[in-house]
Formats: sequence, structure tokens, C-alpha cells
Amino acid sequence: MSPMDNVLDAAGLTNPAVRDYVKYWAELTGAERIEVVSAADDARLIAECLEAGELDPAGDGLYYSRSYHKDTARSEERTVVATSTPTDKGLYNNWRDAAEMTALQKENMRGASAGKTMYVIPYLMAPPGNALAPWATGVELTDCRTVVLHMIRMARVGVEYVNDLADPNQFVRAVHVTGDLENLGQGTPEDSRYFVTVADERTILHYGSSYGGNALLGKIAHGLRQAAYDGWASKKFLAEQYMLIGIHDKETGKDYHICGGFPSASGKTNLAMMLAPDVLGDRYHVSFYGDDIAWLWVDEASGKLYGMNPEYGVFGVAKDTNEGTNPTALHSIDEGSGAIFTNIAYNPTTREVWWEGRTPEPPADNTGWLDWKGNAISERTAERADEPWAHPNSRFTTTLDNVPNIASDYNAAAGVPIDAIIFGGRTRDREPLIRAIHDLAEGVYDGLTLGAEATAAAEGKEGVLRYDPMSNRPFMAYGEGDYAQHYLDVVGAAKDQPIFAHVNWFQRGEDGRFLWPGYRDNLRPLLWLLQLKNGEVKGRETAVGIIPTEDELHLDGVDITPEDLNTILTINVPRWKQEMANREEHLSQFERLPEAIWEAHRRVAANLENEPE
Ligand code: GDP
Ligand code: PGA
Ligand code: MN
Ligand code: MN
Repeated sequence: MSPMDNVLDAAGLTNPAVRDYVKYWAELTGAERIEVVSAADDARLIAECLEAGELDPAGDGLYYSRSYHKDTARSEERTVVATSTPTDKGLYNNWRDAAEMTALQKENMRGASAGKTMYVIPYLMAPPGNALAPWATGVELTDCRTVVLHMIRMARVGVEYVNDLADPNQFVRAVHVTGDLENLGQGTPEDSRYFVTVADERTILHYGSSYGGNALLGKIAHGLRQAAYDGWASKKFLAEQYMLIGIHDKETGKDYHICGGFPSASGKTNLAMMLAPDVLGDRYHVSFYGDDIAWLWVDEASGKLYGMNPEYGVFGVAKDTNEGTNPTALHSIDEGSGAIFTNIAYNPTTREVWWEGRTPEPPADNTGWLDWKGNAISERTAERADEPWAHPNSRFTTTLDNVPNIASDYNAAAGVPIDAIIFGGRTRDREPLIRAIHDLAEGVYDGLTLGAEATAAAEGKEGVLRYDPMSNRPFMAYGEGDYAQHYLDVVGAAKDQPIFAHVNWFQRGEDGRFLWPGYRDNLRPLLWLLQLKNGEVKGRETAVGIIPTEDELHLDGVDITPEDLNTILTINVPRWKQEMANREEHLSQFERLPEAIWEAHRRVAANLENEPE
């Protein structure tokens, strides 16, 4: 028996394939010791992090962390999907050869954890017992203790999830090595970071970050990229960057479930945590199932489309979160919740935290306050006075049980039937508040042509419009044409087709203000969509879908001028015609795009030609 066997035995890790995997990578990375963790280790690991200065206290049961200043978002251009099949190359997946990338990552990782502990995190990305659980099992290895704490909040963690697998080898091997963050050349030609999913070997190799989706491998690398590939390879499911909510109508007793894809930092978490507006609160309740990922499949017994959230926590954007916009989010990070903040502003003396939009103005007395980089605000030079205190992509991490509107059955094996699928993003103009789409092919077409402005969640320029198919551009695992066909196949096989719609909360006036108040009021267009599906309202047909009439929307209590309302409920035909040419060019880049998608495109184009301007 080696000392490592003793550690694995003591932790009760019996799966022989997992044990071999752990030993292989411990040897390669040169870690000094290993430790198998489960959720029960949280308090001890928190204490160790506080002691080591990896976390700071931010109130009772709240913690503050800072990531390296060049490591504050997912890095899309360093993220790669590798397989042994060149036809897996798509436009956005940065496809590379599996053997080549594996060899490169092994060289990067060799000896790179010397002197450190390698934590072994067995996890499940699904409610226990779910139909997709066989694809949801994984073991992350990481040399970063705060990553473990984030994983415990974001995934179900413990040896019980990997010990008794029907096939002991069916788990995702997810290796994370932080690397020497100060010497990785982030963003320069010498950049040595790589975030690789070797999808056909179900192996994830991430090197060179300790931030969010780069380092918590259950969430994005497994929950989106690997799962998307697995869903396609098995022909069984879709893995999407979707929020998932329930809407309960107390008057009729009916429950509806809506999922939807918006690019990162475009409103998924806020929508999932939505409190019904006061005037509608007596009748409707919104419950949270998921805010970032949904896996969708056809349930064998009912033949219906089902969805579930594979995650166990929330990694939410801090900016603009306040009592007015999102009281639910604030209560999910109350004292005692165990929440961890990353890259917000912090006052070590008072242990207070702050971010832009938390209150209209920053704390009046800036004594003791540090910005997200750890520099004293009071010592800022005049030219830096306007810099934000918190990083625009600063986050809070909290577990689902802390979310006040968490659905009572979020942990149930079955998942929930899906009534509607919506797409949306930050679009300054053209996209109305909501437009319902006629059928599946047009829905998939709409998703593929989703365009949104870049946000701070991914490295890149804020405010520039870019296409983001189904909000999956950073997570695309294989070719877009094959993806479109797989989407048509999975959803097309379902009884009772979901209704598709496109939403936009972010249309702006010429002065830059948002035309629609958003947040809680976003329930109103969603209720309209469900009524449309039920045949209770008719809407108004336009070239690009059905939009609500003013009197069909519940607008009591909405703060909007008649002109602005008119703008967000009108189709700007000349702008749309311009957009159609861009779409044609965009879609032409996809190989094997199904003919049904081209037909949908031509149908919309012809409708626009017939529409008066
Ligand atoms: P996610 O990354 O897609 O989950 O997006 P979040 O829900 O975290 O929101 C990202 C940012 O958009 C935050 O700063 C929110 O305050 C802001 N946001 C969310 N919903 C709305 C909305 O309806 N209107 C406006 N104006 N901002 C919103
Ligand atoms: P977001 O999730 O979509 O809430 O920003 C994190 C991410 O996508 O990196
Ligand atoms: Mn996301
Ligand atoms: Mn979110």
C-alpha cells in the first residue's frame, strides 16, 4: 500500500478507475500530497483559507476573495475543444487535435503543482437519480483551495457520487492546474494558458487560471462543453447556457416552465431570481430552477421535453444588484449563507463589501476601502478617480438552498416539462421586447442568429455586437450545422412542442437609457407568451414573429413613456432588412447547416420584403 492508497482508503474512495486517475495526475503534476474532499469539509477548508489569507471575512459567514488582476473572466481565445475527428471543427469551438493538445497540456502541467496539495473533488452535475446522471459524474483535481470551496457551492460534491457507477470508467476526468499566474503572459503573444476539453475522451485539462469557469470545471467545461458533446454523441440530450424558471399561477393552479439562453452577463440570473411585480404578486410566483445551465431531453414515459439544472449553486454578477433590481439575489448572500465574493470592493476594517450599483453612490467615507485589486481608494490619483471600485465582472457564489425563490422540487430526479424556450441578449435596437416564433425550425434559426453586445464576463470589448448562437458561442463543442440538426432532432421528437420566443430587455434610447425598466417587469412579456401559447391572446403578426399589442401586456405600474413603449413594440423593417444580409453571411460560415434552417431564413426574408416600411 502506498501512502496515496491510504489517503484514498481513509476517504472511502473505492472506484478503482478514479483511484488510478488520481494517482496518474498526482504523479505528473508533482503535487506534494492529495486530499479527497466532500461537502462536509467546507467549514475546515474555509478556516484554512482564512488562516492562509486566501479568503477574508466579509461579515458573519461571508467571505471575500480576489483573483489575480489578469485573471478575471473566462478566456475564450485560450479555450479549445480537442477531439481526434477533424470534422468536429466548427466556427466557434477552436477545434484542435486531441493528441497534440493533450501532449501540450501535460507539458504545461508537469511538476506545476510541486509543493501544493492536489484536492480530489468527486461531483455530480445533475439532481441525484436523474436520467442524465450517467453523463453528469466527474472528478475534478485542483491545486487551488478556493476552487474547492467554489465547487462545493456550485456542484454536488462527495465520494458517494463516483463509488458505485454502473461503469466505473464513466466519469469526466477534469484536471485543473493553476500555474504561476504572474508569469503566464496573459493576453500577450507569449500566453501559455490553455483551457482544453478533450471531448471524445471526456477529459478536461485547464491550465493557467484560478477564476470561475476557467477553474471550476464542473460548471462550464463539463456542464456545457463536455455535456454538449456527450449529448450529441449519445443522441440523447442538449446542454445549453439557459436559465430555467417555474411560473405558478395561483388562480388556475397551473405551473409553467420556461428556459432560455442569454449570453453571459445578459440577465439570466436576474430573471431566474425574479420577484413578481407588486401588482401581479398575488397571482403569480416565479421559482428558481437554474440560472446558467440547463440540460434538455425527451422524457421516455411522457414523451415530453424535460429540463433540469445540473448545478447546485449560483455564480452571479454583482454589478447593479440591489434591493430594487434584485432583492432575491441580496437575500441569497445574507449573513450566514457561506457566500463567497470575488473581485468586489472590500473594507478590511469594517468587513463591508461594495460594488457598482449596490447603492447609487459609493460609501461616502472611503477610509479603509480597497478596490478589487486591493489598492486603497483614498490613495487614488486624480486620473484614476473614475475607475470602478469593483471589477465589472465581479461575482458572488452561493448555493441553491440559499436562494429565496428556489423551487421546492429543484433536487427532484425527474426534472420539469418545458413549455417555452426564449433567446435574448443585449441588443441596443431592432429587437422588440418580445416576439414569439412560429415553429421549431424558426426557433432554432432565431437562436443561431442571436446577436448581442460583448459583455465583461468574457475577455473582449464591451458594447460591440457579435453573433452568439443560442448564447453558446463560448461553449460550442462541435460544428454549428451538426448542432442545429441535433437541436431539431431532440426537440422535434417531443410531444407538445415548446413555444419559442426572442426577448430583449436592453433596447436603448438615443440618450443611452434603457427603454424598458426590466428586472421584475420582465415577467409581463413572459406571461403574455404563455397566454399566447394557451390561445388566450392573439398578438400582432409581423414579418419576424408575433408581438404583443399594448393592451395584451399587463402594464399597470410599469414606468415607461408611451413613445418608448411604442418603440419596443414596433418592428423596424429597414433595420431588419439590413440585419438579414448579415445573417446570411453569418449562417454561410456553418458547415452542414440543415436545409430547414435556410428555409426559415428565406421565409423571414420574404416576409420582410412584403412588409410596408
Ligand atoms: P447573467 O450573467 O446572464 O446571469 O446575467 P445577470 O442576471 O447576472 O445580469 C447581468 C447584468 O445585467 C447585471 O449587472 C444585471 O444587473 C443586469 N441586468 C439583468 N437584468 C436586467 C434587466 O432586465 N434590465 C437591465 N437594464 N439590466 C439587467
Ligand atoms: P453568467 O455565468 O452567464 O451568469 O455570466 C458565468 C459564465 O458564463 O461565465
Ligand atoms: Mn454563463
Ligand atoms: Mn448568471
